[in-house]
Amino acid sequence: MTGRHDRRGYTYPTGYRPNLIATLRNSRSKPSYAVSNSTGGERTFRLSPGDEPGRRTVLRDRTLCFLGRRGVSTTAFHLVEQLPKRAPETVLVARDPGGVVALAACATWPDAKIVTHYLDAFEARGATRTFHRNDVTGIEVALTPDLPGGPFDLVAIGLPARGEALLGRELLEQAHDALRPDGRLLASTDGGTTWLRKVVKEVFGRADLQGRAKIGGLVTTRRTRSDARRRDHDHVVEVTRGERTLALKTRPGVFSPGRLDIGTRALLESFTAPPGARVLDLGCGIGALGLCAAVDAGPDGVVMVDSSARAVAVAEENALVNGLDAARCVLRADLEDLPGGPFDVVLANPPYFSHGRIADVFCATSARELAGDGVLRLVAKAVPLHGEILERHFRDVRVTKVRDYGIFEARSPDRRH
Ligand SMILES: C[S@@+](CC[C@H](N)C(=O)[O-])C[C@H]1O[C@@H](n2cnc3c(N)ncnc32)[C@H](O)[C@@H]1O
Repeated sequence: MTGRHDRRGYTYPTGYRPNLIATLRNSRSKPSYAVSNSTGGERTFRLSPGDEPGRRTVLRDRTLCFLGRRGVSTTAFHLVEQLPKRAPETVLVARDPGGVVALAACATWPDAKIVTHYLDAFEARGATRTFHRNDVTGIEVALTPDLPGGPFDLVAIGLPARGEALLGRELLEQAHDALRPDGRLLASTDGGTTWLRKVVKEVFGRADLQGRAKIGGLVTTRRTRSDARRRDHDHVVEVTRGERTLALKTRPGVFSPGRLDIGTRALLESFTAPPGARVLDLGCGIGALGLCAAVDAGPDGVVMVDSSARAVAVAEENALVNGLDAARCVLRADLEDLPGGPFDVVLANPPYFSHGRIADVFCATSARELAGDGVLRLVAKAVPLHGEILERHFRDVRVTKVRDYGIFEARSPDRRH
């Protein structure tokens, strides 16, 4: 196994992430993330493209080795280490960025049917590429708004502590119903196990902590009930636009569940789309921006795109329920290949993660998709960062401060880029 053993014999993965530091501060002995120098006869999987070996993580008694820039996450580490020896016939892996757990399941049980589920097209594409890079063909990738139905003998799911709790709970409820009677759940976390144990117990009636690890842990149980103890996770928010009030459904896992984001609201208040305008809503979430623009301009020229299968499904439902279903909703991994352009207006509230990489993709896409006299309207809290990114792609960039947000207006895409 990779990493050093602590006094109790537990090991830690090489691929820890900064969010673990808070947990570590409270521990007396300093954990170590040593990189294994094993050269045993293990099966090796390359997690990153290119030849750079990156971190080496050796698991399951040196039978599996993962090479990759970021190593193996703590949630994947616990799941891979605790996959039962006895082969199930059908397995569902969920929330497995990079596809590590699915690869381990495939190597451990070559005859099992393995389905791996993603909510996000970008992650699904990344995992699919990893499977191809390693010549693994037997894993089915499901990119759907909800977990596939099953029945499965085993569900393995990683629930990072920094993830959304409501989404975690809903996925555990769906995992319950996807299992056959007496089917087994393995659920791992990279934070404290109290929340995970509590929710698994509520949903399944019982939850057992497997071993004790200093960082994160694994909870296991079986399906004994006919139905999961479910909560209703959907909410409807009302948004007034001109004479109309739109009823917009929100769901866990889709941006700003249960309310309209303040930045979204600020952007909505800053414009009215001209009648007949072709409008692109980049990263549409529940579709608030695109559907309000559809009220202003008419829905025929409105395109809403997101990488989240759940977001696109919710936006589609919201368009239908509000009589705006002529607006199109499309699922894309990275905003490639969009229908309906060129656009007169692009609307965006880009995500903050990945140090501006996605905001840069959003701005580059806007520059590519806008008509010559079109305008990008973008809201962001990190005003200097987004100003800098926008100036890479547009010649004319203006910003107005509204509350804590910058409302940007960018025109004249610089076609040299
Ligand atoms: C901050 S949210 C804004 C959602 C919505 N526009 C609103 O204002 O309520 C950003 C959205 O971008 C989506 N997203 C992130 N990366 C993406 C990508 N590479 N391609 C398309 N959408 C992406 C997320 O799924 C999320 O729905």
